[in-house]
Amino acid sequence: MTAAVFEAINRQIAAEFGASFSYLAMAAWCEHHQFMGAGKWLRLQSAEEHLHGMKLFNFVLARNQQARLAALEQPKSEFASIVDVFERALEQEQGVSKQIDALYELAFKEKVFAAMAELQWFITEQVEEEKSVREIVAKFQMVKNDPASLLDVDRELGSRPAGAEPAAG
Ligand SMILES: [Fe+2]
Ligand SMILES: [Fe+2]
Repeated sequence: MTAAVFEAINRQIAAEFGASFSYLAMAAWCEHHQFMGAGKWLRLQSAEEHLHGMKLFNFVLARNQQARLAALEQPKSEFASIVDVFERALEQEQGVSKQIDALYELAFKEKVFAAMAELQWFITEQVEEEKSVREIVAKFQMVKNDPASLLDVDRELGSRPAGAEPAAG
């Protein structure tokens, strides 16, 4: 692994743990506002992001380097509405997709083939995650402020099984 790729993967580890922290803050907002299903979905997503961070952490160690952990930014914890929560989540995922693409491009330029293989998984995962969150945003935008429909979407989100890929609900 080259120094540049090593540094970039360490930054990505922090970004994944940052995403985990951010989803947990979103879960707190939702549950505090009685959207318990969305809260459950976001807690599970937070746990997934933790696993993403660990996957890269383990990869760095397997490549005989000492993974370096960075400070995390304080996550956003105030939101205007439930749809705002998921719009921010979508922005976050789109940002991560760009970071992963840039990381893959760097690994390609530096000819770090093991990192390219590892990052393939993340590229595929980002397509799935963006799709799931985009579908949730669309649902919340559709129902607007209709309380009964909001509760339906919330209940659907609460049916996300633990440990599975994110269901769009
Ligand atoms: Fe992730
Ligand atoms: Fe993600």
